[in-house]
Amino acid sequence: MAQDDRRILELRAIREKSWQGGGTERINRQHAKGKLTARERLELLLDPGTFNELEPFITHQLDEANSVDRYLGDGVVTGYGQIDGRTVYVYAQDFTVYGGTLGEMHGHKICRVMDLALRNGVPIIGLLDSGGARIQEGVKSLGAYAEIFRRNVQYSGVIPQISVLLGPCAGGAAYSPALTDIIIMVEKNSYMFLTGPEVIKTVTGEVVDAEALGGANVHATVSGTTHVVAKSEHEALNLCRRILSFFPSNNVENPPYSAPIDDPLRMDDELNSMVPLDPGTPYYMHAVIERVIDRDTFLEIQPDWAQNAVVGFARLGGHCVGIVAQEPSIMAGVIDIDAADKITRFVRTCDCFNIPLITFVDSPGFLPGVGQEHGGIIRHGAKVLYAYSEATVPKISVITRKAYGGAYVVMSSKYLGTDVNYAWPSAEIAVMGAEGAVNIVYRNQIAAAADPAAERERLIQEYRRQFSNPYHAAGAGYIDDIIEPRETRPKIIASLAALRDKYAPAPPRKHGNIPV
Ligand code: HXC
Repeated sequence: MAQDDRRILELRAIREKSWQGGGTERINRQHAKGKLTARERLELLLDPGTFNELEPFITHQLDEANSVDRYLGDGVVTGYGQIDGRTVYVYAQDFTVYGGTLGEMHGHKICRVMDLALRNGVPIIGLLDSGGARIQEGVKSLGAYAEIFRRNVQYSGVIPQISVLLGPCAGGAAYSPALTDIIIMVEKNSYMFLTGPEVIKTVTGEVVDAEALGGANVHATVSGTTHVVAKSEHEALNLCRRILSFFPSNNVENPPYSAPIDDPLRMDDELNSMVPLDPGTPYYMHAVIERVIDRDTFLEIQPDWAQNAVVGFARLGGHCVGIVAQEPSIMAGVIDIDAADKITRFVRTCDCFNIPLITFVDSPGFLPGVGQEHGGIIRHGAKVLYAYSEATVPKISVITRKAYGGAYVVMSSKYLGTDVNYAWPSAEIAVMGAEGAVNIVYRNQIAAAADPAAERERLIQEYRRQFSNPYHAAGAGYIDDIIEPRETRPKIIASLAALRDKYAPAPPRKHGNIPV
């Protein structure tokens, strides 16, 4: 055999070994838990045959005395590939090697693909499955985490960063996802916590298991930390591909356009009877959204957390948009602390990546209560103001019913810089609802009346006639047009077309100081 052939055979043997990660036994254990290996996951995530690995020969650099087994790749598979024909950089932690934990070289590999993603202006996707900082590497492991976090922050708003959690993400492994644009978790398979059940039991005495502490369900409904939850790893990786279809590759590109599957001029007569005549009767804003956007394109973000607010990606005339709305069938669409945080984060995500914002407004205002005031509703509500005022993407709003007080102002109102403000004839734009307003303004008049109840009712009806319609606001220029609900889709699509070349440079400054 020629010498060259021997070298090639040796290379092939080394490569094959690296593909086995922590060995057959650990791979079998991974499969027995219903989990895939890092390489199997990359196969599913990327377009077939497009993965190119980088730095597969790296191993840990601990000296021999402290050394643990050396595995090629050091517990993370990194490289680049394509999703729908667009380049992405990826890393997939290999739980079969030291539990996917992060040491110095493992961290170096992740930083390398993050840097290459930035340099080439393309997304970085992390598939995480990790016990956190690798104990054997001590402070080197902590330093490696800091290197990743710094990049997460510095590349934030420049290239999309998506984290898919496919196993435990303990300690440091939870913080990098928390700094990225989108977190995807898998039911009963992924966990995220800073300190695990054992530590909690020791410190606070609380007894809790991993699922109840930091499972997908908890982060989807209670903490609001995850953005979407999938039922399986396959579904999670597909979701990642779908989410990416709404994002441009970087902050100077526009999101990908796909030829509309739905007539841009389609009007929907059902919308005209969507809002009940009785202002106290709820209806479903989700149904409104579905009838306006290109059919079946809505991808809701955080659907199970702060459900009184709705955020998500969709397409209108084939163009990607971010939808923000209230859901009047949940807590009357009131804005509370969690809803404010949810809206703020989404508005900023869209603004970073040139995704126009369409806001549907139906809210009686901010949620009153001692708990909300003491919990900082002022601070949290201010974030919504900040995010909408700061956003320079095309902004279009549609007031469908209530836009009372703070809700009118913060939800993409005209003088926060919104480009087009529509209202339906059912819109009620006022400082507050009729009952509350009459009680405050006419308290003495009602008390002095011969029949206070009848006088109160008369004043409520009068207030409604005056303010519970959009004509008062439109007459003063606060609304650009009052439209029939059925016209909403073509009107928004035409507005988006007119705003496509919007130029709204922000004044130079280091950065703003959003209240947190
Ligand atoms: C080194 C670790 C490890 C760690 C797990 N392993 N965690 N090795 N450092 N932090 C190894 C195990 O020894 C085992 O090796 C393999 O990974 C799989 O672990 P198992 O425990 O057998 O698996 P499982 O039962 O599925 O449990 C997984 C786990 C658990 C939930 C992740 O291992 C665990 O709780 N680990 C500790 C998590 C933690 O507290 N991390 C925080 C670190 S501090 P073998 O050889 O048997 O395959 C941190 C601070 C950073 O991250 C701060 C930044 C701000």
